[in-house]
Amino acid sequence: MDNFTFQNPTKIIFGRGAETKVGAECAACGGPVLLHYGGGSVKKTGLYDAVAGSLRDAGVAFEELGGVKPNPRLSLVREGIALCRDKDVKLILAVGGGSVIDSSKAIAAGVPYQGDVWDFFVEKAVPQAALPVGTVLTIPAAGSEASTGCVISNEDGDYKRAFNSELVYPRFSALNPEAAFTLPDHQVAAGAADILAHLMERYFTNTRRVELMDRVIESVMKTVMGNLPAVLAKRDDYDSWAEIMWAGTIAHNNLLNTGREGDWGSHSIEHELSAVYDVTHGAGLAVVFPAWMKYVYKHDIDRFAQFAVRVFGVDHSFFSPEKTALEGVARLIAYFKSVGLPTTLAELGVVDDRFEEMAAKCTEYGPVGRFVPLDKDGVAAVFRLAV
Ligand code: NZQ
Ligand code: ZN
Repeated sequence: MDNFTFQNPTKIIFGRGAETKVGAECAACGGPVLLHYGGGSVKKTGLYDAVAGSLRDAGVAFEELGGVKPNPRLSLVREGIALCRDKDVKLILAVGGGSVIDSSKAIAAGVPYQGDVWDFFVEKAVPQAALPVGTVLTIPAAGSEASTGCVISNEDGDYKRAFNSELVYPRFSALNPEAAFTLPDHQVAAGAADILAHLMERYFTNTRRVELMDRVIESVMKTVMGNLPAVLAKRDDYDSWAEIMWAGTIAHNNLLNTGREGDWGSHSIEHELSAVYDVTHGAGLAVVFPAWMKYVYKHDIDRFAQFAVRVFGVDHSFFSPEKTALEGVARLIAYFKSVGLPTTLAELGVVDDRFEEMAAKCTEYGPVGRFVPLDKDGVAAVFRLAV
């Protein structure tokens, strides 16, 4: 196990009515709040009214900025930064999914920065300060509600890039599983695929003797996969959603990568698909991850065999661990199919071949992934395995 320091400062307010408690959380911020949201689902579901009511009850003044798109855009981030400066906003309150939360984080880091906020995403600058962010989560998926990550799409050049900073850990996140009752099927499944991908990115590691986290990751994966069919069948199954929502946060709040190095190549590869084709992140991962597995499994057949046996209950073949390993990949693909996810680029709607171009962009700062670093040719090969 590697040395590590772990501290996640995000206060989690979990359960029914969590959204009504955010006003009290914002009350001490000392000025107006920016209520940031997406394309309108929060207005239809009544969540916007509940949050606005909570702010009013706590005497917190607020501005608002809606219109965040999935794969959140840099142009709206810039608009948000200008608005926050103009109105002297003290806290950004994200009401939505990963896209709204990431847009909020980018605004939060951009407000005190003199240069262009995109600098953080192209390694030209590192955030030195940020406004506090709070969240009201509407979809278990990205884990941004308790993560250091922030992922933004730049319409100028079809780039999707991330930065990580402890400064953008949300100060608090309100998680009410009921918020997920209104999700459409494809977002439910894509969200779960993203959670599973966050777990697998951590699972496939070169670090030795990491049994505790291996077993926790396996348990969280099994919990997500076990509860997903229930919420697909019955959208208001609160208890199943509670399991998935908490799993989504734990999968990405940096606890499960303590003492180990993960991979993250599949995420980098998927971000190219989202940048060029505007696909849903989790659906893209359901396509990319199995292809990545097929490309890299020989690097550590025993680890892939362990995954197959412990997560999918595959019988271990002592004569051919490779067979066991590949059966695990096949079971993952079968699971994704069973919940309606695409598992090929064609099913994702990607039918042209821009693999070389995307692979070049993906590796412009060097190889991606730590378990198996992939150069441009490696990334292009993963795309070809996903056809
Ligand atoms: O915009 P609205 O109208 O709210 O609709 C959204 C959106 O169309 C809808 N939705 C969300 N909650 C709903 C709902 N519809 C009905 N009822 C609800 N309760 O779902 C659509 C997708 O929302 P989005 O926020 O894009 O989903 P998700 O949480 O999957 O976030 C994806 C983004 O997060 C990034 C991804 O790259 C992607 O841009 N990620 C962020 C990470 C981080 N910051 O740590 C890590 C992840 O790996 C990921 O990369
Ligand atoms: Zn993800």
